[in-house]
Amino acid sequence: MNAVNILVTGGTGLVGSQLIEALLEKGYPPDTIRALVRPRSHIDFLTGKGIRLCTGDLLDVDSLKAATEGVHIVYHCAGAVDEKRREVFWEVNVIGTERMLEAARWAGVQRFVYVSSIGVYGLLETTPATEDHPTRPLRPYAVSKLAAEQRVRRYAERYGLPFVILRPTAIVGQRDRTITRRLVNLVRRPVVPMVGGGRARISFVHARDVAEAMIRASHSEKAVGNVYNVEGFSAPLRRVIQFFIDEVGSGATIIDVPYGLAFMGALIVDGFYAVARRRVHPIRARVGLRQLTRDLIFDTTKIKMDLNFEPQYGMEESFRQAIRWQLQHGG
Ligand SMILES: NC(=O)c1ccc[n+]([C@@H]2O[C@H](COP(=O)([O-])OP(=O)(O)OC[C@H]3O[C@@H](n4cnc5c(N)ncnc54)[C@H](OP(=O)(O)O)[C@@H]3O)[C@@H](O)[C@H]2O)c1
Repeated sequence: MNAVNILVTGGTGLVGSQLIEALLEKGYPPDTIRALVRPRSHIDFLTGKGIRLCTGDLLDVDSLKAATEGVHIVYHCAGAVDEKRREVFWEVNVIGTERMLEAARWAGVQRFVYVSSIGVYGLLETTPATEDHPTRPLRPYAVSKLAAEQRVRRYAERYGLPFVILRPTAIVGQRDRTITRRLVNLVRRPVVPMVGGGRARISFVHARDVAEAMIRASHSEKAVGNVYNVEGFSAPLRRVIQFFIDEVGSGATIIDVPYGLAFMGALIVDGFYAVARRRVHPIRARVGLRQLTRDLIFDTTKIKMDLNFEPQYGMEESFRQAIRWQLQHGG
């Protein structure tokens, strides 16, 4: 594809901002890149780069059409991630994606790359999980991501929109508003409880690796109509937490908690929230507990074979960059 025009949604977020950075570093002309930003988005990172900022909102289809006119590739990274309200997940991730698809169809977009999540699988029955693993999302966020995937496929079937779906694991890097902040806050407590010895492996990926996978997905004919896991590295939970404790310098102590005791605690927490705060998912703590004690790792053979994709960032570099940024900007 020559002289392609690109629209990145979520350009002020972790993935979108790193994607824009990667595109510019690869020599894509700045004036071919557009970023959808909301009127109140923090756009400091995006200004002065020569890219076009299109003001709009995923829920405002006219603004999306204006942003998409003349565009060949849409990288749809915008989404509700660090959110508690179930209805917002649905509104932004499902209805917002539907509206983005509508705008893309209207503009005759040639490739729609959708950033989904490994959350769509739910608790893993087999690990490492391939893309064929059953999808039984557990939380409202993941339910909305799967529903959005279904909207993408439906659009492709009905209107022939060429799409690729990527399912990254937990994403870290500079400008991470979610995972790193949560982990840094966790290790700032004097004691970090650990269930199951912290032996379960969990996986992450650096946002720049996700960006690379997206760019490859947008240029490969083989990728069209496919879904790919995107994983960078995995490590036992205990090692991850200890790394954060050391890097943040918090001196927190890891304390092992028997599974039965943790389960009782989760039951009480869930019961409390179910009664007192209906907007919180009622099985949240128990689900979280089960997830934390099972491996959450993914097979990436498909993306390696089809897109020749190999992650470039390992655990130490990824976490160090993310933590440093969090400590400087996130308080
Ligand atoms: N972070 C992870 O660990 C992770 C893991 C797997 C998959 N994903 C997926 O990857 C994608 C990017 O995640 P991220 O971590 O980069 O998220 P993020 O840092 O929270 O950024 C979210 C982006 O979406 C934009 N946005 C939210 N609601 C919008 C709306 N109604 N209209 C237009 N833009 C809107 C935000 O704009 P503002 O700046 O205006 O708020 C921001 O640019 C998401 O689809 C997410 O589901 C993330």
